[in-house]
Amino acid sequence: MSPHRRFELHSCLFLLAAVLSFGTAFIFSPFLFLSLPPACDSAGAGKQVTARRGGTVILPCSTALGSEVPDVEWSRQAPTPEVVLLYRDGCETFEMKSEDFRYRTHLILSELKDGNISLRISDLRLSDGGTYLCRILPGRRVVETLKLVVGAVSEPKLEVLSYADDGVTVQCEAKCWSPEPEIELHGDIGILDNAGKPQRVQENKDCITIRRNLTLQAATKRVTCRVHQVQTGQIKVTEMPIPGTAAQPRNMLIQSILFLFV
Ligand SMILES: *[C@@H]1O[C@H](CO)[C@@H](O)[C@H](O)[C@H]1NC(C)=O
Ligand SMILES: *[C@@H]1O[C@H](CO)[C@@H](O)[C@H](O)[C@H]1NC(C)=O
Repeated sequence: MSPHRRFELHSCLFLLAAVLSFGTAFIFSPFLFLSLPPACDSAGAGKQVTARRGGTVILPCSTALGSEVPDVEWSRQAPTPEVVLLYRDGCETFEMKSEDFRYRTHLILSELKDGNISLRISDLRLSDGGTYLCRILPGRRVVETLKLVVGAVSEPKLEVLSYADDGVTVQCEAKCWSPEPEIELHGDIGILDNAGKPQRVQENKDCITIRRNLTLQAATKRVTCRVHQVQTGQIKVTEMPIPGTAAQPRNMLIQSILFLFV
């Protein structure tokens, strides 16, 4: 067989194989799609990162690595478009960086060599919330879109407001939360009067304080307050024993004063 002819045969076989495999793929493709896990999030489809005020967060972003570390732009798209970090020619460039993020955003330098261009934001403010884009330069191709929610939470505080013969009224306070949480109060036995719609007080532009009252049966021994932030999944629970009926708190106070003197 001449080399020329062998070549023809080879290319013919190759073509046949290609046609066959394409045909197979085509026939089976519906099954192929069915058996695949649901499509990966296209950039931005609902990726959310939540973090707490004052804390640090890492917004994940990775890229396949070329021969060198790429130029990276992190920006916030909403509520206002601004550059959060610009990394060019192996250094951070500051001219375009928003004042709000000064000293607070970094790439993780030890990770760059692996194509990990995640952004670290420290000393988080509630106003840092928004949609962030991770881009590769040149071309500004968007590699990742993420929504950051910064929440504020505090330990709920429980206190007894009043004792009466038939019941004890307690109040739970969730001070300076953001986003607004739900507040639930319950005792270890029945509720007498679910007096309270929650009362909301806007502390400042950043956070809300919520208080709620509940009147429980006098025999209640324990009360629990549960504060739940739906958007971030944060839950804080405080429990308190109820000392007893009307006369007891004062007695206890006297006892503890006596105790101090003994
Ligand atoms: C990127 O670096 C951060 C910080 O070290 C780490 O938490 C994260 O898992 C890394 N991501 C990848 C994909 O390696
Ligand atoms: C709870 O009860 C106290 C005393 O009756 C009242 O002053 C306060 O406004 C009530 N708070 C709420 C949240 O309803």
